[in-house]
Amino acid sequence: MPSRSSAPSSAPAAVEDTPIPLAQPSVTEHERDRVLEVLHSGRLSRGPHLDAFEAAMAERCGTEHAVAVSSGTGALHCIVSALDLNPGAEVLTTPFSFVASSNVLLYEDLRPRYVDIDPSTYNLDADRVADTITSETEAILAVDVFGVPADWPALTALADEHDLALIDDGCEAIGASVQEQAIGGWGDAASFGFYPNKQITTGEGGCITTDNETLARRCRSLRNQGRADDARMQHDRLGYNYRLDEMSAALGHAQLERLDTLLNRRASVAEMYREALAPLADDVARPAEPTDAERSWFVYVVRLHDHFADGARDQLMEHLQSEGIGCAPYFPPIHLQPYYRDRFGFAPGDFPVCEHVSARTLALPFYGSMTCAEVDRVAEAIAQTLPDLPRQTKA
Ligand SMILES: Cc1ncc(COP(=O)(O)O)c(C=O)c1O
Repeated sequence: MPSRSSAPSSAPAAVEDTPIPLAQPSVTEHERDRVLEVLHSGRLSRGPHLDAFEAAMAERCGTEHAVAVSSGTGALHCIVSALDLNPGAEVLTTPFSFVASSNVLLYEDLRPRYVDIDPSTYNLDADRVADTITSETEAILAVDVFGVPADWPALTALADEHDLALIDDGCEAIGASVQEQAIGGWGDAASFGFYPNKQITTGEGGCITTDNETLARRCRSLRNQGRADDARMQHDRLGYNYRLDEMSAALGHAQLERLDTLLNRRASVAEMYREALAPLADDVARPAEPTDAERSWFVYVVRLHDHFADGARDQLMEHLQSEGIGCAPYFPPIHLQPYYRDRFGFAPGDFPVCEHVSARTLALPFYGSMTCAEVDRVAEAIAQTLPDLPRQTKA
């Protein structure tokens, strides 16, 4: 009788045993070849692939200029710095984002002034923004959270009316659009990020898009140590090394050529989730469909309904993780991060909508190559756990 150990070692692992990561990049053979060609060329920085990637980004976003840099944070930092806002000025922004969208303001001695979010889109609530503008406000920095565009028509009208700079943190939203205008083309400038969990990746990398020539020139200078122009050793301003290398630029350019395919694939996975989670709709809210905008699927974030008690989301995450299913609390409120609490004295209750949403949301595994079987396994694991989660006690 054959022993257990005689099972062929090449047998595929059962679907239920294989870990499902939170995110996974898609890199083709062709893209690997493009990177190898750069390595063979010997020109590894400040070469033709950077120019080609920037031209493709500008075309895709419908902007005059694109400036590629080494991260999404670097892109946002360059924009904030290039806008030349007054030190200490107030910038209205969202507490429901990745911490980088606020950190860049602190790098430039600006004051983040948080505005609570819309509970359905999770983006800045434009009506509240209007009510929060003061004589100290010099800019609005909005984020397209999870790839859903912020309310750009309303924010643009407010910025115009009050003469404010308008910054789009579009790091999660490449390929999204509002009123047929691509993300990247709204506001004074937009940032993109290409970390490996993003819709397209360069490993680490980012990009600024803008129609403003002065701003683009300053961003080019800031990414290259404040040089007056890239060729000379004259430094006009305090700059940084935010340059993007040629391997990353070549990869980014090839990924951008596939953006629509990559986005369609992610949209199909989102549709699989929508169907698989439909029977759980009384307990788990699926992502809302944006009205008047085209989203770009970045992450698949679900939310436990209000009848669950505090702590239920964390318990659900623990169970999923114990089953080998990647998940993450997206996003913890920025104002409650220890550094922000210590520095500014923020406390729970300051931005109640953000805090309520944040305590109940979680990102599920999401990437273009996810199979139906994997999506079903995630949905089953959630369904199994729901009956055990603590519920609010009736008053
Ligand atoms: C909304 C947002 N802003 C900024 C960033 C920063 O991008 P990077 O990690 O490339 O610096 C991210 C990255 O995840 C992000 O999601």
